[in-house]
Amino acid sequence: MVSKKLETAINEQINAEFWSAYLYLSMSVHFANEGLPGFANWFKVQFQEEQDHAMKLINYLISKGNKVKLKPIEEVDTKWDSLLAAFDDTLEHEKVVTGMINNLVSIARSENDYATENILQWFVSEQVEEEETAQEMIDSLKLIGDNGFGIYTMDKELAARSHVSVEGGV
Ligand code: FEO
Repeated sequence: MVSKKLETAINEQINAEFWSAYLYLSMSVHFANEGLPGFANWFKVQFQEEQDHAMKLINYLISKGNKVKLKPIEEVDTKWDSLLAAFDDTLEHEKVVTGMINNLVSIARSENDYATENILQWFVSEQVEEEETAQEMIDSLKLIGDNGFGIYTMDKELAARSHVSVEGGV
């Protein structure tokens, strides 16, 4: 079993992962309505990945004989003025999540809970990737500016992204 303190913190992380999923679903719906199916698809895949993150932690708590407590999900925005604004929000959101993961690692370390720390290392790497991807999207959008053909081409490219489950492995 993991300690009560870690159990509480991991349950908060599960909630944050579903909160992330909800945010990206909201972005997906927004851009689908805006006539940008490729960007909508990109955020839908992001939504699916966040649910995988939550499930990874749920499966871990269950495997350790701990309790999973699913709490209400905080409200998310439903509207963005531009693609750049949505990806700026994405990057800021991921930085908050990274901070939470780092805090979890600190707790696991202070308790010499090596098994939990090991599981969390996957999330540490994942966060590096998540922040890097959001930054790349921001850089591309800044390059494109308000060039309609550029946005059209990027939207077509993002339509090809598909979800690969990362829920397993714990
Ligand atoms: Fe699960 Fe995007 O952090």
